[in-house]
Amino acid sequence: MHTLSSPRPKARPISRRAASALIDATVVQRQAEENLRESESRLRALVSSMEDVAFEFDLEGTYIAIWGTKENLLSHPRAELIGQKISDFHSGEVAKLFLQAIRRVSRSRKTETLSYAMNVQQGHRDLQGRISPIVQTNGTCDRVCILVRDITEQKKLEAQFLRAQRVESIGTLASGVAHDLNNILSPILMGSAILQRRDLSAADQRIIATIETCANRGTDIVRQVLTFARGAEGDRIPLPAASLINDVAKIADGTFSKKILVRTRLGEPLWPIVGDSTQLHQVLVNLCVNARDAMPAGGILTLEAENFPVDEHYASMMPGAKPGPHVCFEVTDSGTGIPPQHLEKIFDPFFTTKEVGHGTGLGLSSGLGIVKSHGGFMSVYSEVGRGSTFRVYLPASISESDTVKENADAVFPRAKGELLLLVDDEKAILEIAQTLLEAHGYRVLVAGDAAEALALFAKRADEIQLVLTDLSIPVMDGIALIRTLKKMKADVRVIASTGRGAQEQHSRELDELSVHPCLTKPYNKNRLLKALHEALQPTRKQS
Ligand SMILES: Nc1ncnc2c1ncn2[C@@H]1O[C@H](COP(=O)(O)OP(=O)(O)O)[C@@H](O)[C@H]1O
Ligand SMILES: [Mg+2]
Repeated sequence: MHTLSSPRPKARPISRRAASALIDATVVQRQAEENLRESESRLRALVSSMEDVAFEFDLEGTYIAIWGTKENLLSHPRAELIGQKISDFHSGEVAKLFLQAIRRVSRSRKTETLSYAMNVQQGHRDLQGRISPIVQTNGTCDRVCILVRDITEQKKLEAQFLRAQRVESIGTLASGVAHDLNNILSPILMGSAILQRRDLSAADQRIIATIETCANRGTDIVRQVLTFARGAEGDRIPLPAASLINDVAKIADGTFSKKILVRTRLGEPLWPIVGDSTQLHQVLVNLCVNARDAMPAGGILTLEAENFPVDEHYASMMPGAKPGPHVCFEVTDSGTGIPPQHLEKIFDPFFTTKEVGHGTGLGLSSGLGIVKSHGGFMSVYSEVGRGSTFRVYLPASISESDTVKENADAVFPRAKGELLLLVDDEKAILEIAQTLLEAHGYRVLVAGDAAEALALFAKRADEIQLVLTDLSIPVMDGIALIRTLKKMKADVRVIASTGRGAQEQHSRELDELSVHPCLTKPYNKNRLLKALHEALQPTRKQS
């Protein structure tokens, strides 16, 4: 940076006044230099604390200086860049883009923003550069400064936001279309009803029946679109949970192919729920239809319901869950299962893997909308090739004090430091279960896969009193692990936990291994403690 210097005084004797003026000037200059140094160090502190990287370029695109601590936002190490030109490191096009912008800014003296994507040392990033002129005190500008910021995350959020907005506008559009379709379908339905009363040939009757079935399907779809588009609202009345399950099972049994065996399982007297009966039927019927579609060659469809107190631990494992008494409805199929990459999308509106005409992709999204509007939440568990379990949790309409009785039954004596080995590949579950069990007086070892579990067990087989293992874990599956454990110690106590509502597919193997206590995931505190308490009873002998 230049400083204006006063013309050098001629060498001639100077007066006292002139001398003192000169001294004053020197003091002023020192002060100025001091100020400059201070402001420079302030600037340096500022630069090193910022998220951006700052570059100084001349008009040829030479890297003059680079500041900032985010070295990995540079395309190459700092030392390699300094003194070189942009064109030495980047393709002609990128270099041209920057060079043009640099020259434009130096001419116009106006700051410009440039958004671009580039491979830097951190990887492929979306970046934003703000190019500002560095104007000298003499008014010339042959340098610019570029502040570069990583906007990759911001771009991702923007894309998500845009997607959400698009979905919302599709919803609005869809509800308009749905209303129109309703008006088109109503006369078709009425017309076919009138025609059916006429004396027609059997063939004509069949055609009319088909028209009616199709129009009814259309109405169904329209109803789903509307539920999705406007969110669910409806009459809330007390509903017996058991009759909900029985009604839906009846529909499924009566309409699905005979190759699909429909079963129901209803536990203890179920707590009442409050809701819109039509909507909740719709949710469960949709789940059953999905289950049917997943079992083209037939299979087992199981409908279950049970009381389910959601505690703090459980709520922390499940997004959208609030602690309190719930009734859990379960729809399990033995069908194709859902590949992991689809799992996170299935609740998106219009996501479908079915052929055109067979799926709308609205079943689960509208279902989730209904469940949420009832204050509930949903979960899904699926294994490719084995089947899926969808769970719908709805808040029970009983007071907390009514469930205390339920909980009181489930108060188990504190453990006396028994050593447990927990095996699960889901870290969150391990952590929570460990905290919970240690708080209850157990000592806990954890393993993320079978190999780790076996290594721990080999070392401490005598101390470990019980192994609680998930049935689908990496390296070898849970069944193989249990088999190996039994070989190492014949009377080892084991609890198998599985994410499936039904343990059918493992039941034979578990029987052979005499592993009876099974824990369905996700489990709450009481269930876990109860299972452990029972399995550790001295009278209860496994194998
Ligand atoms: N029980 C299930 N088994 C396998 N896949 C399922 C199951 N339930 C839902 N899916 C998947 O989720 C997608 C979305 O389901 P849904 O919202 O009901 O729409 P649709 O049934 O019209 O396709 C389905 O296309 C399918 O890929
Ligand atoms: Mg569906």
